[in-house]
Amino acid sequence: LGGAPEEKPLSGRHLLVTSGPTHEPIDPVRYLANRSSGKQGHAIAAAAAAAGARVTLVSGPVTLPDPPGVAVVRVETAREMLEAVEAALPADIAVFAAAVADWRPAAFGDQKIKKGPEGPPPLALTENPDILATIARRTEGRPPLVVGFAAETTDVIAHARAKIARKGCDLIVANDVSAATGVMGGDRNSVHLIGRDGSLETWPTMGKDEVARRLVARLGQHAASP
Ligand code: CTP
Ligand code: CA
Repeated sequence: LGGAPEEKPLSGRHLLVTSGPTHEPIDPVRYLANRSSGKQGHAIAAAAAAAGARVTLVSGPVTLPDPPGVAVVRVETAREMLEAVEAALPADIAVFAAAVADWRPAAFGDQKIKKGPEGPPPLALTENPDILATIARRTEGRPPLVVGFAAETTDVIAHARAKIARKGCDLIVANDVSAATGVMGGDRNSVHLIGRDGSLETWPTMGKDEVARRLVARLGQHAASP
């Protein structure tokens, strides 16, 4: 009915994916954000559903349609994303593809900030929770397989290796998001897969959908032989 078992390598598994940017409000009409489109994260959610997984996609604000067969939880801020991720656990596999804002405005006023003779207002920032590190470092209820992304503009592999150690995830998908690559917002991606054991695999540039299918196939292998 659902095809041969090897076509549904993730059936019976719950896969959690974060995707998109977060928006961090400054006042009721303004926010801090980044250029993430959510294309890579949404493609991973779609590929995992096609591979038979039950998928929860926690997404920041994107203009993409919901992937078919995926339970989508929409959030705005990093703190809301962390809450939604915690509510979606337990999961067998968690993939943190969101471009979470590292900082948010320290103060949020419910009135619009007005121009005035005193000039531009200071914009003090405070650090957001690290969702990936929070989940990967849990002692109880940690998904058995935790995958992070690393968005870098220089020394991609070295920075990604440092991240895997710092955050405690099992696998990192590192990509070069320099403006010249067109990865942020674009349809193609060139990634390196870096394992906790230091292993490194460089994939050729391909569509984000194809990156997603290959990654999901890889996760299916991990899930089959933990
Ligand atoms: N991440 C997260 N929560 C944050 C920041 C990042 O869950 N507050 C996750 C991202 O989803 C990604 C990984 O951490 O899977 C790495 O994100 P990245 O921005 O590349 O790394 P940072 O640790 O934020 O470091 P920096 O931005 O300084 O390179
Ligand atoms: Ca960051």
